[in-house]
Amino acid sequence: MNFENFHKPVLLKEVLYYLNSKDGDIIFDGTLGGAGHTIEIIKAIAPTGKIIGVDLDSQALSTAAHKLKNFTDNVILVKDNFANVESILEKLKIKKINGFFLDLGISSNQIEKSGRGFSYVRDERLDMRFNDSSSLSACSVLNEYAEDKLKEIFYKYGEERWAPRIAKNIVSYRNTKKIKYTGELVDIIRRSVPSYYKNRRKGHPAKRIFQALRIEVNKELESLNKALDRGFELLEGGGRMVTISYHSLEDRIVKEKFIGFSGRCTCPPEFPVCKCGARKRAEIITKKVVRPLQSEINENPRAKSAKLRALEKLK
Ligand SMILES: C[S@@+](CC[C@H](N)C(=O)[O-])C[C@H]1O[C@@H](n2cnc3c(N)ncnc32)[C@H](O)[C@@H]1O
Repeated sequence: MNFENFHKPVLLKEVLYYLNSKDGDIIFDGTLGGAGHTIEIIKAIAPTGKIIGVDLDSQALSTAAHKLKNFTDNVILVKDNFANVESILEKLKIKKINGFFLDLGISSNQIEKSGRGFSYVRDERLDMRFNDSSSLSACSVLNEYAEDKLKEIFYKYGEERWAPRIAKNIVSYRNTKKIKYTGELVDIIRRSVPSYYKNRRKGHPAKRIFQALRIEVNKELESLNKALDRGFELLEGGGRMVTISYHSLEDRIVKEKFIGFSGRCTCPPEFPVCKCGARKRAEIITKKVVRPLQSEINENPRAKSAKLRALEKLK
């Protein structure tokens, strides 16, 4: 078993500050990863608190178990989807939590070492599943989805303007040969994006398509929506919800949910009275989204796109 951990936790001080945990608290950490945040949260809730560390990825759970081997009284590790927060806690006979934390997306360990095709700079099998027992992989999406469906996910989850050309070229490639490797996909994308545009564009030409595929394979946005709703209901009054997102689609979901929990009316301005049933149930404690300092980005470039938001549930 390989317990190497490359992942540096992002916005660590800020996470601890906004979670504001104390001895005895029960915290739900839905994205355990390499346990970088988890181990520091444990120090805040010890000796009597508990953290429930959840991940879909068996490799992440092994790395975390190794790292947390001296804290077994304070941690419960669970292989599951964070969207199932309700059933996870029910099985553990935990009724309420004091903190709910999500550090979304993918870890450096998964990009660098999993061999599952998360990176466009490596030639690996197209897999992209967090959960190795799930049936949908990047390979099945690319080889089985209709052209229109591919175009739709590339637009929706990758905000990729060349989605139609890329989808068309994927379909014509797979008519002769199954697409199995990230290198093949990167070549198709390179051929589909006009060179004048490729040169002006920031970042790798395959970045948006890889993001779109990962979101589709892991149903990431559905899980996030469900987790925020269910997690909020399970928070104790005075409990905190803290999230870190890495792209605009995730951040928009978190922002809108938080606005909803804080009771801001979302009716169209032409409505004379509120019909959306807005009710203030939480205070957003990050009035502006929290971004990493340049010094953190210099040390950990992965932190660059991170956005932290936090709220406190009313008592
Ligand atoms: C950014 S990493 C977390 C890193 C961690 N905070 C640390 O500092 O080591 C995100 C982790 O969440 C996991 N993950 C993503 N979506 C998930 C979901 N719906 N349910 C459970 N785990 C998920 C991924 O497998 C990955 O290990």
